[in-house]
Amino acid sequence: MAMIHEASMMTLVILLLLVCSVLVETADQRESNPVLDARLPAGRELEFAGVPEMLNRESSSVKSAQFDTLDTGDVDEQVQQSYGARKLLRQSGTDQDGESLLEFKSGILDDPLGAVADWNLTGSSDYCSWNGITCNAARRVVNISLPGSQLSGTLSTSLGNLSFLSVLNLSSNVFSGSIPSGLGLCKRLVSLDLSANQLSGNQLNGAIDIPPELFQLTGLQILNLSENSLNGTVVFQSSSSLQELYLDGNQLVGGIPESVGKLGSLRILHMQGNGQLGGNIPSELGLLANLEEFDCSRCSLTGSLPYTLGSLANLTTLKLPKNNLTGSIPSELKQLSRLITLNLWNNQFSELPEEVVRGWTSLESIHMDRNNLTGTIPKAFGSLRFLKELVLERNQLTGGIPEEFAGLQQLQVLHLGNT
Ligand SMILES: *[C@@H]1O[C@H](CO)[C@@H](O)[C@H](O)[C@H]1NC(C)=O
Ligand SMILES: *[C@@H]1O[C@H](CO)[C@@H](O)[C@H](O)[C@H]1NC(C)=O
Ligand SMILES: *[C@@H]1O[C@H](CO)[C@@H](O)[C@H](O)[C@H]1NC(C)=O
Ligand SMILES: *[C@@H]1O[C@H](CO)[C@@H](O)[C@H](O)[C@H]1NC(C)=O
Ligand SMILES: *[C@@H]1O[C@H](CO)[C@@H](O)[C@H](O)[C@H]1NC(C)=O
Ligand SMILES: *[C@@H]1O[C@H](CO)[C@@H](O)[C@H](O)[C@H]1NC(C)=O
Ligand SMILES: *[C@@H]1O[C@H](CO)[C@@H](O)[C@H](O)[C@H]1NC(C)=O
Ligand SMILES: *[C@@H]1O[C@H](CO)[C@@H](O)[C@H](O)[C@H]1NC(C)=O
Ligand SMILES: *[C@@H]1O[C@H](CO)[C@@H](O)[C@H](O)[C@H]1NC(C)=O
Repeated sequence: MAMIHEASMMTLVILLLLVCSVLVETADQRESNPVLDARLPAGRELEFAGVPEMLNRESSSVKSAQFDTLDTGDVDEQVQQSYGARKLLRQSGTDQDGESLLEFKSGILDDPLGAVADWNLTGSSDYCSWNGITCNAARRVVNISLPGSQLSGTLSTSLGNLSFLSVLNLSSNVFSGSIPSGLGLCKRLVSLDLSANQLSGNQLNGAIDIPPELFQLTGLQILNLSENSLNGTVVFQSSSSLQELYLDGNQLVGGIPESVGKLGSLRILHMQGNGQLGGNIPSELGLLANLEEFDCSRCSLTGSLPYTLGSLANLTTLKLPKNNLTGSIPSELKQLSRLITLNLWNNQFSELPEEVVRGWTSLESIHMDRNNLTGTIPKAFGSLRFLKELVLERNQLTGGIPEEFAGLQQLQVLHLGNT
């Protein structure tokens, strides 16, 4: 009796398993199975994000599982309590990425090149194969790249739901409106390029054009907002990750804020061509110990160079031409021993001390023409063995060319006329 009971239970279990696997198979034939798709090629575990390891190993037979190390937003909570993984995954975080992309598409008003024409969920269309989209092994969208696609419209805040997005490149399109603060939810964002669009101020945000949330992204390294219509004030928030910030060619106002000193990892800061920016260069810029390039050409800057810039030990490029900067070059700047390119033409600097020039041992190019430099041409230029370009014309320098210049082996351009 007991034997018979056990045998029939066994049969029932086997039958159930068979039915289940048939169901899973049928689902597979209709559409690709995210669980199966999530299987990793050997040795590529690190790229595998989003679906717990267990699904990976046991894919088609998983009915329930405990997920201890689950990152919220990776796989929906429903899955944690579920069986029939295919159906539930489809409704959960995974396929929601497709919905978020369609929401983004709905903000696009014109697509003359058909860049997003294949973005739809009809038939067997899989969002991971849509133009411009790259997914990871778990079918989470990691990269949206649609540069130069003539897309116009506004940027949907639904992009913020793509929690695995690490690269967003919508450079050279015609997007207008403001930068959605929702992007601050894309916690894995590494590179954000919205350059060469028509993005402008966020009136709701007190004319702060760069959503503060972007600075809270702990992995964001590159932010390119150049060549837009950003016309408000910049306020920087602490960011431990941002390395490259491009804000060239906008209409920013209100000066370079002191908060620039909070961008501790910054290597490159380009703000050239913000003709209405104005103000002084804040001394806090000297806090950016990793800074290699600073360009604020044509920024209507006034005042003198802060002496704190002397602590920028890694600075290789300083470009501040076409401003209204005055005063002497501070003696602390002699510490800029890695400086390669110094471009300060068309300002009103009054003095370039000999000792400062002597410290610029890596200098290859200096353009300080059209200033108010007085005194004699610093002899120390003669000791800069990498010097290729020395342009000092249209100052009030006196005396001839120092004989020390005879040793300049690399020199290609020497303009001292009218000094
Ligand atoms: C994005 O998430 C919000 C909740 O945070 C939700 O209301 C909205 O419907 C989602 N949008 C898309 C397109 O998934
Ligand atoms: C959906 O995309 C497919 C290509 O993936 C395309 O053939 C089809 O016309 C599109 N459907 C709609 C309604 O846009
Ligand atoms: C993102 O996708 C674009 C287009 O496919 C590609 O050129 C780029 O290298 C990708 N970026 C990364 C970081 O993988
Ligand atoms: C975005 O795409 C353009 C065009 O391919 C490329 O030049 C640019 O470097 C990309 N931006 C980033 C931050 O990689
Ligand atoms: C930033 O955007 C500008 C304008 O599109 C482009 O010229 C520049 O190469 C971009 N920088 C990077 C690092 O992609
Ligand atoms: C910035 O530009 C937008 C869009 O053109 C405009 O509505 C807004 O008034 C401008 N803001 C300022 C401070 O000029
Ligand atoms: C400067 O550059 C060097 C190498 O190029 C790097 O090791 C260092 O971390 C950078 N930062 C500072 C503050 O020196
Ligand atoms: C410098 O200031 C003067 C007077 O304020 C102004 O006319 C001139 O355009 C400014 N030059 C630059 C390059 O900003
Ligand atoms: C620089 O020289 C110009 C004329 O060459 C003069 O108008 C201007 O006031 C001078 N600037 C300073 C700061 O001395």
